[in-house]
Amino acid sequence: MESVSQEHRSFPPSESFSANARIGSMAAYRELYEKSIAEPEAFWADAAEGLHWFRRWERVLNADAAPFYKWYEGARTNLAYNCLDRHVENGLGGKTAIHWVGEPGDVRKITYEELLGEVCRFANVLKKLGVQKGDRVALYLPMIPELVVAVLACARIGAVHSVIFAGFSSDSIRDRVLDSEARMVITADGGYRRGKVLELKKIVDAGVSTCDCLSEVLVVKRGIEGLECPMTAGRDVWYEEMVSGVEDFCPAEEMDAEDLLFLLYTSGTTGKPKGIMHTTAGYMVFAYLTAKYVFDLQPDDVYWCTADVGWITGHTYIVYGILQNGVSQVLYEGAPNHPDEGRFWEIVEAYKVSIFYTAPTAIRAFMKWGDSWLEGKDLSSLRLLGTVGEPINPEAWMWYHEKVGGGRCPIVDTWWQTETGGHLLTPMPGATSTKPGCATLPFFGIEPAVLDDAGNDVAAGILAIKKPWPGMMRGIYGDPDRYRQTYWCKWGGQYYFPGDGARCDADGYYWILGRVDDVVNVSGHRIGTAELESVFVEHADVAESAVVGVPHEIKGQGLMAFVTVIQGRAQDEKLNRELMGMIDQSIGKFARPERIIFSSDLPKTRSGKIMRRLLRDIAEGRELGNTTTLADPGIVEQIQRQFQEGA
Ligand code: PRX
Repeated sequence: MESVSQEHRSFPPSESFSANARIGSMAAYRELYEKSIAEPEAFWADAAEGLHWFRRWERVLNADAAPFYKWYEGARTNLAYNCLDRHVENGLGGKTAIHWVGEPGDVRKITYEELLGEVCRFANVLKKLGVQKGDRVALYLPMIPELVVAVLACARIGAVHSVIFAGFSSDSIRDRVLDSEARMVITADGGYRRGKVLELKKIVDAGVSTCDCLSEVLVVKRGIEGLECPMTAGRDVWYEEMVSGVEDFCPAEEMDAEDLLFLLYTSGTTGKPKGIMHTTAGYMVFAYLTAKYVFDLQPDDVYWCTADVGWITGHTYIVYGILQNGVSQVLYEGAPNHPDEGRFWEIVEAYKVSIFYTAPTAIRAFMKWGDSWLEGKDLSSLRLLGTVGEPINPEAWMWYHEKVGGGRCPIVDTWWQTETGGHLLTPMPGATSTKPGCATLPFFGIEPAVLDDAGNDVAAGILAIKKPWPGMMRGIYGDPDRYRQTYWCKWGGQYYFPGDGARCDADGYYWILGRVDDVVNVSGHRIGTAELESVFVEHADVAESAVVGVPHEIKGQGLMAFVTVIQGRAQDEKLNRELMGMIDQSIGKFARPERIIFSSDLPKTRSGKIMRRLLRDIAEGRELGNTTTLADPGIVEQIQRQFQEGA
């Protein structure tokens, strides 16, 4: 991939786009931005005005116990109410909320009023089963409308949802259920992923048998022919049976501003994923406002985000941010290349999608499949494109701009994280001149800096965020110290530390340079190298392991694993297979390394620290860096030989 530091092209929004945009000029952006920084409380109070509150806030920001910030203290509201009831009350009940496109050709259109009804009935089922406000409920569902419905049903009654992406393994489900002490898992008999049937209920069963906290498994029928779905008596119930006879309306619980809304587990630098906590009012306002401005949402837009609801992108920019804005959206269950590689463009054409939000890894795959899949497809409905999840290389950006956007659609390259709740760095599509590969400028209320380890301002270094913002995480579930230490200790509590490197150019634009810690971004999926390492060492034949991230043409980054085997044990294909199988079992297939390289030792300093830098050099075929500090310099050459032989 070419280097972003060579990139000088700049693309202003077209006059016609700016003329109708919510933020139509840099002057308009700057005016609002400056207000948001100078008077954050006034800015965020204004932002909250358009939403529904059972009770208004007494204080917009309480920083007394920083970094445990509180937003909209004293307020009472409900996310589901703001996503649904508010629109129905405003006469938008008949508007399509979701155009669902299912995998084997199933389609469903759901209006806001119908969605409200479904959410109410689902909420009443949860109540009937004894779920109460504050209870944790894990969701393991395919991309079907019931996933959105179940999320909103939890929010409606104040249950805390913990969505587990349906590509995760049984062990991952177990760990998340135990960590959050979830009382219920909501799943489906099966689902489709990339054209294949996944037996979701069986995966859940294999994970939760040892979870004493769990009382019910609620199963939605996806209706896949021939799929077996064993039910455990006394624990498992069919949603379809429970819903018959429940009331059509369920009042929305009045939630405190800082009541927990959801947990979403994400990877960090240690082996154990962290339960990121998001609370009610601040997240709600931030999701609403970022979606509105960054996607320039207009009443007749048809929006489509291709992420899964199992990741933060789906939480904020399929469910909460988009539905709060009352627009219509496409929800797609399937894969980009099933039944063929033109599938996405067919959907854009069929539903007249106007805003399309996807990941750079998908764009690189489209490029590889070739332009012919776009030919003959009418993409003229598109007016705005977005990317998320990983750095986008300028070549992919240009392809997206020209081939998908026809040269006329602004691209919003949005930088943010599970922890940030919503966009922090992003162009304003009607104002910002974009540069290929650049996340550009801060959203309102966000004050970024690029610092060195000592906290000095530098041109290229580590990204830092100065002020708190409403959508920020409120902590790591069950581990407040880890929250403080991971995110707020690097620069003495003055800045939030996201873990990304960045560069600020002469125009004040921010370029994200990738992670500065041991987190790797594989196809936009965040994976901690320590997670894989701790899986490998569980194998009886493995002594030690080190996993590093390496550039990958399509995935952005891939994982390369170096494993040392206990003396006398075989380093063969069988072991390779077993280790790959352990990753599938412990994390999920998406976390498989590109390769496992066996050796008798790893390169270590004399004090015993593994030198990952050298492993990266080997994996990327680079000349080896300084090896003089190694305890045994011969070992890198041995690994290098192994690597080249197996390639
Ligand atoms: O490294 C950054 C990368 O994804 C990380 C956050 O991952 P996750 O919490 O899974 O959330 C992904 C979806 C918001 C960040 O620390 N990242 C995300 N967006 C971008 C990005 N890197 C570069 N450019 C982006 N636009």
